[in-house]
Amino acid sequence: QDPTELTDALLDWYDVNARTLPWRIPPGSDIEPDPYHIWLSEIMLQQTTVTTVIPYFIKFLHQWPRVQDLAAAAQDDVLVAWAGLGYYARARNLHKCAQYVTEELNGIFPDTEENLLQLPGVGPYTAAAIAAIAFGQPAAVMDGNIERVMARMFNVTTPLPDAKPALKELTERMTPQHRAGDYAQAVMDLGANICGPKLLKCSGRCPWEDHCAANALGTADQLPRRKSK
Ligand code: ADE
Repeated sequence: QDPTELTDALLDWYDVNARTLPWRIPPGSDIEPDPYHIWLSEIMLQQTTVTTVIPYFIKFLHQWPRVQDLAAAAQDDVLVAWAGLGYYARARNLHKCAQYVTEELNGIFPDTEENLLQLPGVGPYTAAAIAAIAFGQPAAVMDGNIERVMARMFNVTTPLPDAKPALKELTERMTPQHRAGDYAQAVMDLGANICGPKLLKCSGRCPWEDHCAANALGTADQLPRRKSK
């Protein structure tokens, strides 16, 4: 199976089925994504669900429309606005990062994975997500949802975390040169709406249904495996 065919089938599915999310530019639109919005949403989404993040994302942008506004805020105000999202180190790093981008980078976010990784609070997942979604770079985005979809699609039976390098390589092979951001978000939407941890709704819905190794074997609900503790 040629990965580009699979990737194209997924992008076609995404064109019709993308979730509407406040940080997301609908597929096919010619609006440029705002890196500040993408960064803010990806930091919030690191350990928090989409449903919880939505009102916080809207509130933050209302209160601090530009990265310079967030940089100028008092840290206490940022922490108060963050209350309920948890993991407060994220909020402190968020504020630090806004100040760094404002003061050192003239308010302009870096546009490569490597330079994004230098920012406070930005790890490999977030750097790849921002590079792909905000800047259209072919970065391979890996998170728990994407790992689950890849493990099932290619029947990766090695338990996590040992399976991570193989899953990353599969994601690199599948990521297109164009629309890498849409591709990553399409896999996230598959993981959220169709290829869930417990609930699988493959039949007639998943664009990869007929190419999914675990679906053919009937073992999708058992993947990914995890090392028992
Ligand atoms: N989870 C993390 N980033 C996401 C995004 N851009 N869209 C949907 N879910 C996500």
